[in-house]
This record gives sequence, C-alpha cells and structure tokens, in this order.
Amino acid sequence: MCGIVGYVGDRQALEVVLEGLRRLEYRGYDSSGVAVLTPGGARLVVEKRAGRIENLDKALAAEHPAGIPGTTAIGHTRWATHGPPTDRNAHPHLDATASVAVIHNGIIENFAPLRAELEATGTELASETDSEVVAHLVARAMPAAGGDLAAALRQVCGRLEGAFTLVVAHKDEPGRLVAARRNSPLVLGVGKGETFLASDVAAFVEHTRDAVELGQDQIVEITADGYTVTDFAGTPVAVSPFRVDWDLAAAEKGGYPYFMLKEIQEQPAAVADTLLGHFTGDRIVLDEQRLDTQELRDVDKVFVVACGTAYHSGLIAKHAIEHWTRVPVEVEMASEFRYRDPVLDRDTLVVAISQSGETMDTLEAIRHAREQKARVLAICNTNGAQIPRESDAVLYTRAGPEIGVAATKTFLAQVVATQLVGLALAQAKGTKYGDEVAREFAAMEAMPELISQVLGVVEPVRELARDIAGSKAVLFLGRHVGYPVALEGALKLKELAYMHAEGFPAGELKHGPIALIEDGLPVVVVMPSPHGRPVLHAKLLSNIQEIRARGARTIVIAEDGDTAVRPYAHHLVEVPRTPTLLSPLVTTVPLQVLAAEIAQARGYDVDKPRNLAKSVTVE
Ligand code: AGP
Repeated sequence: MCGIVGYVGDRQALEVVLEGLRRLEYRGYDSSGVAVLTPGGARLVVEKRAGRIENLDKALAAEHPAGIPGTTAIGHTRWATHGPPTDRNAHPHLDATASVAVIHNGIIENFAPLRAELEATGTELASETDSEVVAHLVARAMPAAGGDLAAALRQVCGRLEGAFTLVVAHKDEPGRLVAARRNSPLVLGVGKGETFLASDVAAFVEHTRDAVELGQDQIVEITADGYTVTDFAGTPVAVSPFRVDWDLAAAEKGGYPYFMLKEIQEQPAAVADTLLGHFTGDRIVLDEQRLDTQELRDVDKVFVVACGTAYHSGLIAKHAIEHWTRVPVEVEMASEFRYRDPVLDRDTLVVAISQSGETMDTLEAIRHAREQKARVLAICNTNGAQIPRESDAVLYTRAGPEIGVAATKTFLAQVVATQLVGLALAQAKGTKYGDEVAREFAAMEAMPELISQVLGVVEPVRELARDIAGSKAVLFLGRHVGYPVALEGALKLKELAYMHAEGFPAGELKHGPIALIEDGLPVVVVMPSPHGRPVLHAKLLSNIQEIRARGARTIVIAEDGDTAVRPYAHHLVEVPRTPTLLSPLVTTVPLQVLAAEIAQARGYDVDKPRNLAKSVTVE
C-alpha cells in the first residue's frame, strides 16, 4: 500500500504534491519521492529519499533551494514490497533516457520475467523493485504508440499481472499525466483549472471536493482543464463523479473515526496482496530465500516464535504445518523462548512472525536460534526491518501500514503467510504434490471474498457490543484452530476496552474455568465447522450447553447453516463455510469488531490504547 499524488494545474506543482504526500503518509512511509516537469517540458526533475517525507524535504531544500518550477508533478510515499527502503528503490522510477517517470501502488506479479526480458535486451535497471519495469516498458512502447503516452501505457498494462495503480509523466508532455488502475485504488480530484490524481481523497480534499473514482482496468489522462477516461482497449467509458463529504481528518481514515476500523475493512485486500506473486502455478516462492531446497528438506523440527497477536497466528500455523509436513512444530512466546534453553540444531527451522519486524523479544529469540545454528525464516509486514534482515529467508505480508496499535489486517495476513510457508516446506519435503499445493493456494485465493462477506454482516455485532459493554468480563472458547481465535478475541478486548477477557480451549472448561461461569456472563464461542471436524463440533455443542445451563450469555460464531447450534446461542454470528485451516480468517473478524465497538462504547481511543505501543522494541 503506497501513497500516490499527481497534479496538473496553474499552481507550482511541487508544493501541492508534497502536501498531498504528507496527507497520505499513513499509507506508507519508508521512502518518498517526486518528479516535476520543468516549464516547457524537456526535463523531468526527480528527487527521492529513503525514510520519512522530511528526508525528502531536506534533500529538496539542499538540492533545489529555489524550488523546482513546474505546474505538472507526481509524488509517491512508499510501503516497500519488493526491495528494501533505499533511495534507489524509492519512486518515481525512470526509464534509461529519463524521459518517462512512473509511480506505482500495488504488486506486479509477473515483474520477474518482464525484468529478465528488459535485461536480455541490454536494459540496465537501477532498482530492485517491481515498479521500475513499467518505466522502461512505457518508454519502449512510445514509438509504436506514435508518441501517445496513454496508448503506450495501455499497451504496457495489457502485459502486467497483479495489482497496480500507475501514474506516468513524460518529459515532452508538460501539462499532461496518464494513469492506470487495476485492483489498487485511484481517485481524481477535479478543481478549477487544476486536476489531481491520488490513492485517496485525503491528498486533495482541501483543494476540491469534486472527485471521480476510477474503475477496474481503466486509463485516465488528466490536464489542467479536465480528464478523459478509457478502458485498457482505448474505448471511452462513463464515470461517476461524486462529492467528498469528509473533512481532512476523516478522509485519512477513509471516513471512519479510527484507523483500526478502516484497517478491519482492508482485510480482504491485505490477504489478497499477501498471496500475490507467491505461487508460480506449481510451486510456492518466498520473497527472500537464502536457504536451498535441501536445507528446507532437512528440516526436522520447527519452532514458531512471536508475541501477542503474532503468537496467535503461530498457533494456527502449527496446525497447518504439522498437518501438511508431519514435522513437529512448537509455538513459543518469544520472551520465554531463549530462557528455557531450547534444543536447536542445523535442522531446526525457527519461524519468526512479527508485523513490525522490530519486536525485541522476537529479535533476541532469533539471535539465540542462529547462535545455535538453527535456520530462521521471518514473516514480516515491514520490508527492511531488523528481524527479516537477520533471517535466512523472508516472506512479507503485504497488509500495508497498520496504524492502529491493535493488530487486525496484519493478523489475517500472517495466517495466510504462515500457511504459504507450510506449503513451501511441504513441497520441499515432498509431503504435498504440486497439484495439492495448487488446491490449497486456490482455497486461500478464495478467502478475500469470504472475508468481505463477513464484513457485510457484522452490524448485529456492533449492537451486541453496546449491550455488553458494561460487563465485568468476557470469556472466549474455541477448539483446534478456534482456540487461537478465542485467544485473539480476548486479547483484542483486553487491549482496546481494558476489560478482563480470557480465552480457553473449550475442553479445558471442566478443569477449572467453568467455575467462572455465572448468570449473564458473556461467553464467546468459536464453533468449528460441522463438516470439517464433526467430532469437535459435537463436543463444543456440549460445552455450550454446559455453560448455558449455568447462566452464561452465549455469543456463538458459527458456520452459515449450522442449525444444531442455534437453540443454544443467545446471539449467533454466521460466517461463510471455509476449509478448517482457513476458518480463522472469517471467525476472527466479528471478534475484532466486537472489541472495537465495546472500546468505543466505553469512550476509549481505539487507535491508541493506554500503555501500549505499535512496536515493542524493548525486552
Ligand atoms: C496486537 O494487537 C498487539 N498490538 C501486540 O500483541 C502485537 O501483536 C505484539 O506486540 C507483536 O508485535 P509484532 O507483530 O510487531 O512483533
């Protein structure tokens, strides 16, 4: 997820674009850059730097103390997916003649063959990114397009796979920008004598509230006087202008009062983007792999080390990795791991899960593992962070920046990322054939749609949340992969609503916790599918009857059509049927919403819970 801004108008474009980037920093902030077309064209002035936008500001002040004149410019603030955050990998990217400048939001799945094709024809690429290939391809397409930038971009888009919003400037076309959209957002701002392009309206809402949302597979050309929209074949298409009724603060949160609420809604895209590019049709590929297949094949023990929500995704991963590889998996809280002198050797794989990639407990755990000669594979949401840098292999989740302290979309992304790792291990060890890996991957690809379905039916959860906001405690029960979901639901309630909440394996109830059940106590039960694990379903049905008989107020998350559970649920939230190992992707969402709504009902700041930090960089 990155921030994109384009401007054509009658004002000095650089400051307009920089201000827009500052409004979009929440979308990505590991590097940023601008390209300005000088008056009369003929030159693209590009400045880009790693780090926050103030680094770019300092570079501009040093390199261009009088500013960069020009009324056409593009700008980008990056959340790295391919290539660490460096000056070189920052956008905009140029072709070899510095005629074409491109900024990109998304993931070009087939960038590797396109890169190889360019290099085979003598093109030297300056960065490690997927995005740069577009600048070279557009420049190459210009002659055949008769110098028509939009036609050249249309031709290139026909070759791209994945998710992309692209904005392109050409040195010979001051006063014109061209953009394309597939799967990543792009919106126009239509002003008087000026036109904007952006990832979202926050970039221009202070200048104009007249906007147009670009549709799938559409190309737009903008000038100061307006815009033209076509499909990828060049056929004009009708668009629907709209009026932005959000103020700036709300615009940055997509109209929600808190980033976390917006990030809950972004979960389908977070899962979809995390999967992009990791399956080549017959095998799983990681982002960085400094382990060869034989080393993976030799793995005879897996430890998963993580903290908090990441630890819960590790508990789910255990089920998948053991089921697919028959390799024993231990899931450990990172803060405990190295102090218990674990048994590690060269054939041990330690999987470190961390959205920030900076959590000191997890970082020290992998350092201990490497001292014991174990191999380390990191699953991380932050490209270039310390934990992936100190690992032998990396798979990045691509949830985009998560501003809310409470993890939501990074958790769902970790669930699929850990299963990609499980499949990669299974294919290396031969415990899964290529067609079986393909089937599991296809099941994951179907999940964003199912997550969207759940997001569409959570309104009753919001009402329920307000009804139980005054409870003194809430218990959460689950079995199998439903137990980590119960733990995650309890953690969300603790960290957001400061309420006592506890997750248990449902089978553990009779060994003590059932003494906690009293009249009216809310108990959330995460039901397994009656199809996937019928025995577990029957046992959990008994557990629900036991607690209901003792006065519990049962809130049940169950699969659509699970009629057996209905008589015992005071409140029933139905989620789509999924494969057992992927069910946490749909059963977790109502619990996230429940916790966020209870916190709001209690008047707390959902994005900044007390005593917590987004990244815990101390032990
Ligand atoms: C989750 O909602 C919490 N914010 C916290 O438990 C978090 O998951 C934990 O600190 C691990 O952070 P990491 O993923 O950045 O390593």
